[in-house]
Amino acid sequence: MRLGLVGYPIQHSLSPWIHKRFLHQLNLEGSYQLFETEKEQFSEMINYLRKYNVNGFNVTVPYKQQIIPYLDHVDGYAEEIGAVNTVVSENGVWVGYNTDGIGYTLGLKHAYPSLFVEKKKVLIIGAGGAARGIYHALCESQFEHVDIANRTLSKANSLSQLNKSSNVQTDILTFEEAEKNIGDYQLIVQTTSVGMNEDRMVLSLDNLKRDTIVSDIVYQPLLTMFLQQAKDKGASIHQGHTMLLYQAKLAFEKWSGKEVVVQGIMKEFERFLKKE
Ligand code: ATR
Repeated sequence: MRLGLVGYPIQHSLSPWIHKRFLHQLNLEGSYQLFETEKEQFSEMINYLRKYNVNGFNVTVPYKQQIIPYLDHVDGYAEEIGAVNTVVSENGVWVGYNTDGIGYTLGLKHAYPSLFVEKKKVLIIGAGGAARGIYHALCESQFEHVDIANRTLSKANSLSQLNKSSNVQTDILTFEEAEKNIGDYQLIVQTTSVGMNEDRMVLSLDNLKRDTIVSDIVYQPLLTMFLQQAKDKGASIHQGHTMLLYQAKLAFEKWSGKEVVVQGIMKEFERFLKKE
């Protein structure tokens, strides 16, 4: 199989590490290459990938929207979010999908199945590209409330337009309001880049309750300051590498048409990220 990743910059991407293990697990011959592409070369790269007869590829920043006009078809869910992270070539017909948000909820469901049983209140922090898929997927999971806190309220407002489910309510909160009311939520999802390779938190968890699940999509470090403080408060945590693995699993299953298992890889991935 000819697979790969298009984005910039991507030299530190962990996707090759993951997909090589999936290829091995299914006994498939193939490669997952990094197609690092600067803005000016994007069209050229697409032409190259067409000629190279790729079976599929992932798309990451800054091209998740820019790829759309180059596709033959876009899956309805990816179209709603307005971003594609996975392209499948079906005999040269390119179809775009988005596995980020569903990958996130799949990983969460695996770690905390009880969270999805009763009506629960969720708070998403951030309203950028990463929050879009997660917000959409959480609304589809039929939580009672999926609220959004963001530094720029207008961005949170436009994100909330993605919610088509009449059963799910969304309130928009300032960071001050979120800090004050943080005890009301059963799940808190941190989707901003704050905390990536830095000891900084997007907002205070002083009022957090013990029985909350706190999730961070940042995975470098694996235990962000946000998750460390949540842990110190007695909350349960959900680390960011899970989303990376599960979105990759869903992408690989689209390319191969076969199921892959992440459990064994998860532990190895954690050791790799901790550089053990
Ligand atoms: P991505 O695609 O990785 O989500 P993005 O679209 O630039 O990146 O969105 C980044 C998110 O992180 C936004 O919600 C942004 O808040 P604003 O909408 O107010 O810009 C948030 N963010 C980034 N840096 C932040 C900071 N220092 N404090 C608070 N929020 C921050």
